[in-house]
Amino acid sequence: MKLSGLGKAFFGNSGAEANEGAIKVARKYAHQTDPEKSMILTAWNSFHGRTIATLTATGQTHYHEGFGPLPDGFDYVHYNDLAELESKMNDKTCAVMLETIQGEGGVYTPAPGYLEGVRKLCDKYHALLIFDEIQAGIGRSGKFFAYEKYGVKPDIVTLAKGLAGGVPIGAFITTNEAAAAMKPGDHGTTFGGNPLACAAANVVLDTVPKADFLAHVESVGSYFKAKLLKLQEKYPSLIKEVRGTGLILGAELTIPGRDIVNDVLAKGAIINCTAGNVLRFIPPLIITEEQVDEVVSMIDDVLPKYC
Ligand SMILES: Cc1ncc(COP(=O)(O)O)c(C=O)c1O
Repeated sequence: MKLSGLGKAFFGNSGAEANEGAIKVARKYAHQTDPEKSMILTAWNSFHGRTIATLTATGQTHYHEGFGPLPDGFDYVHYNDLAELESKMNDKTCAVMLETIQGEGGVYTPAPGYLEGVRKLCDKYHALLIFDEIQAGIGRSGKFFAYEKYGVKPDIVTLAKGLAGGVPIGAFITTNEAAAAMKPGDHGTTFGGNPLACAAANVVLDTVPKADFLAHVESVGSYFKAKLLKLQEKYPSLIKEVRGTGLILGAELTIPGRDIVNDVLAKGAIINCTAGNVLRFIPPLIITEEQVDEVVSMIDDVLPKYC
């Protein structure tokens, strides 16, 4: 809580559950002033989970197919397009929900000024700003919360993945003001806040926020990105762009990436391809420069086959 600068945390078991809770808080909070203030804007290409509300929040239609009717009150804007967001916001906007750094959609960082602009629009229309940091949070960006990197504070932040170092957990942290809209019984879950997961999260919270730990993420991340940029120089016909920050990095290819992922796996490293053609690198935060060298040389070995 101290790290987030927010007021109250609720613990659940997964990322989707954290986002589901954040959506409920935003709706309940807005409902107090206007029962029709319910619209939640999210980004195309986002990923927020696979429950019915969070897959609706997810701005990728292939996740929606076959699950209709989907809940009302969600609409989508292009990430990094402030003018489009402004055109869709009004007094009925309940919340804007964004990944601080888009992961699943292809590793997109916020353009300079974008998140500040989103914050201002949320303030103007009394809408809550929800940052989904399930992938980008817990030190991955080089800051404990990725939003610290961009100097913009949300009203609600959601966490999961790294929060308990692999033990299942999810959490949303909200302002006291928004939390006050939730009454006893409005939200809950059997295993939420269980001692095992919270003990594991305490170890993460004792470790990851430390300056030297985050400095390592920042420096090994810069090293990794520089290596990927070198690969791009070597294979300009295959690597279109290298993106990301800290240890959430992506290399956009000119071809589908699945076979490259399999070739690298056969050499002994797990990488991943998202959005069809973006090699995504979200390694353990303790990765060393030597291990980065190993992975990059595996990729270097397999790429000539695709030229
Ligand atoms: C940004 C983001 N939000 C939400 C989720 C959903 O988390 P979970 O799979 O724990 O439900 C994910 C999972 O990949 C994610 O990356």
